[in-house]
Amino acid sequence: MEINVLKDYSDLSVTVADIVEAQLKEQPLSKLILPTGSTPLGLYDELVKRELDWSHAITFNLDEYLMNPDHPYSYHSYMRKNLFDRTNIYPDHCHFPFRPAIPFEDKMYTYNGIDLCILGIGSNGHIAFNEPGSSFKSRTRVVDLSLQTIQDNSRFFDSVEDVPKQAITMGLGTIMESKKIILMANGTNKLTILNVAMNGEITETVPASILQNHNNVEVYYCD
Ligand code: GLP
Repeated sequence: MEINVLKDYSDLSVTVADIVEAQLKEQPLSKLILPTGSTPLGLYDELVKRELDWSHAITFNLDEYLMNPDHPYSYHSYMRKNLFDRTNIYPDHCHFPFRPAIPFEDKMYTYNGIDLCILGIGSNGHIAFNEPGSSFKSRTRVVDLSLQTIQDNSRFFDSVEDVPKQAITMGLGTIMESKKIILMANGTNKLTILNVAMNGEITETVPASILQNHNNVEVYYCD
């Protein structure tokens, strides 16, 4: 699969913001899947700067830690701070995975499913919180986080002990039903895993490799 190498982080953020803007303008009632982490921060800043109309948009976040959603380090808080509270999106239109998972997934499928899914990639090849070994058929569910992920994500917490050990995540099967998928990756530490995922064997050991089976995926990278 082709990896589009962009010149810097700003270029990555602007390029993906162009795709989101085009989607929202072409189809105001778009259903989007959104990521968290450090990679999309520039994208969210760029989207806020453009003052787009989000009043018809419906969003679904990829994942959330098993923790109080009002905790300052939850993904609910991250999304409110970095995107939702800075746009005119309706809070009722912003969804996070919850249990039981079936009604959550049902919401995604009403009105024709997901139009655009934006993903990041973990250093172990995870997408959302689908850790290595996750079934390609997996749906939204509670998962144990790998030691690698706990270590990687400890930078967002006061200490590694504070990182939740479990999360609720969309499954790989769920993500693959999106009509269009954009994968964003930033930093030389992601390059090897990105190459393995996009051009190596398609295997559950490398969750992101499932994207090779999708017919509408674009991959953007900057170092
Ligand atoms: C977390 C999220 C993933 C995200 C990954 C990469 O583990 N659950 O959805 O893709 O981090 O994050 P970063 O962009 O900070 O490297």
